[in-house]
Amino acid sequence: MTWWRDAVCYEIYPRSFADSDGDGTGDLPGITRHLDHVRDLGADAIWITPCYPSPLADGGYDIEDHTAVADDLGTLQDFTALTVRAHTMGLKVIVDVVPNHSSDTHPWFREALAAGPGSAARERYLFRAGRGPQGAAPPNDWESAFGGPAWTRVPDGEWYLHLHAPEQPDFDWRDAQVRAEFSRVLRFWLDQGVDGFRIDVAHALFKAEGLPDAGPGQHQDPARNHLMPYYDQEELHPLYREWRSLLDSHPAPAGAVAPRERVLVAEAAVFEPARLARYVRADEMQQAFNFAFLEAPWRAPELRRVIDESLAATAAVDAPVTWVMSSHDAARPPTRLGGELRAASAALLMLALPGAVYLYQGEELGLPQAHIPDDRIRDPLWRRSDGRDRGRDGARVPIPWSGDQPPYGFTTAAHEACWLPQPEGWSRFTVAAQGEDPDSMLSLYRRALRLRREHPVAAHGTLHWHSPADASYLAFSRAELTCVVNLGSEALHLDGLGLLGQPVLASTVLPERGTLPVDACVWLSTATDGEDRRTARP
Ligand code: GLC
Ligand code: MG
Repeated sequence: MTWWRDAVCYEIYPRSFADSDGDGTGDLPGITRHLDHVRDLGADAIWITPCYPSPLADGGYDIEDHTAVADDLGTLQDFTALTVRAHTMGLKVIVDVVPNHSSDTHPWFREALAAGPGSAARERYLFRAGRGPQGAAPPNDWESAFGGPAWTRVPDGEWYLHLHAPEQPDFDWRDAQVRAEFSRVLRFWLDQGVDGFRIDVAHALFKAEGLPDAGPGQHQDPARNHLMPYYDQEELHPLYREWRSLLDSHPAPAGAVAPRERVLVAEAAVFEPARLARYVRADEMQQAFNFAFLEAPWRAPELRRVIDESLAATAAVDAPVTWVMSSHDAARPPTRLGGELRAASAALLMLALPGAVYLYQGEELGLPQAHIPDDRIRDPLWRRSDGRDRGRDGARVPIPWSGDQPPYGFTTAAHEACWLPQPEGWSRFTVAAQGEDPDSMLSLYRRALRLRREHPVAAHGTLHWHSPADASYLAFSRAELTCVVNLGSEALHLDGLGLLGQPVLASTVLPERGTLPVDACVWLSTATDGEDRRTARP
């Protein structure tokens, strides 16, 4: 079996993980120093979000140079040291590739602005004349995913497309130089020893020929994303086939211990399961984040439908589902789902499902969404929504490692010097505090990951439901493990429902044997003697 099919990958947001040089910003040496946390958690891989030179108009997803390291994060040597250390610990390393757009400070975009209308330099991006008198209206009705029009006019009168912030001009993927450049980018990082790539907005690179209007209601209902003329176009798939064969054929770097299968994971906001499955056909990417699971409400029938549809769609192309309930773009689960207990139960549910999993730094600590004061918000969503949307910074604050007050061991700098402020009152969330507490979220994640390893069940093996489709709880078995989640409003009596087995892990203290409280989840083993997480230490 290939390693990525049931791997647990840990997402690291470098500026917020750990600061090694006391400037208040997390950096690559900080990651290297704290990799033991990821190893002790029991993850198989790390994914590092963009660490490339960037003016930070969108948290580093506005890239000036795709093959270098940002000064505040370190050097290419630091990147190598990180990769070597990770590999020594048995962790794979995945990096972010952002092929849809560059920063507006990228040399190609500067060149395009300087060269003017009709120039070859403009063909790498999507420059167009406007509509109406003097071309004063945008070329079409497309809206930015961050709010407002997706077009910005330049002084010579032309408009350029940006599906995100104006500082993120979209490339024209029909241009041969763009295609060649990203093959170079992939090869460059493969030569640095990486094990794969997370492809940013993988559903957006190609725009429909002629740039037709998209109509009303854009970015309102994600279920319609695949119908938009700027998303999910057919031309994406030959490109991903090309990249897959590049990964499969590119020689391993000198000194690599053994050839490893390298992966592509799609960040494709496509919610129609059959459309999403097309990104993970046998000769395309291996994984695609399952955002339908992240977006699902805390209700049993909806969650069950998402699980069933996702498993069926990926089984049809012989790929795993890649589960995710947290990322640098999503509200933290305890806040989103309505409490820590639900977040713990959702995690146990996710970790019991067949397939691969991505965790996001701080998820294992049960961090809630932090409140960021108005004058410290960095996310462009805040400005572009005229202050209606506080954006994603509340999920991006620096990790609390130890101690009783901010910056909780994240940096040696003063709290005020942190690039994003941590809230007061997080001392109970620190890695140090939780590591010693057998009932903490961190201990729960560690045990869950260990059990996943110790009781490997075929990653794409079948899941057998015990709960009826319309029940207010979820219960299913995979081989010798039964997972039960109570999403209803009354305690569940497991024996009465015929749900047998020894509790091996639970999201909370189980008050009495055979009873599952509201919002709780339990793993039952029909094979082992059992280990109740509240009564027995590992
Ligand atoms: C992806 C990233 C997000 C970023 C966007 C534009 O969705 O995860 O953080 O804002 O792409 O690059
Ligand atoms: Mg630093």
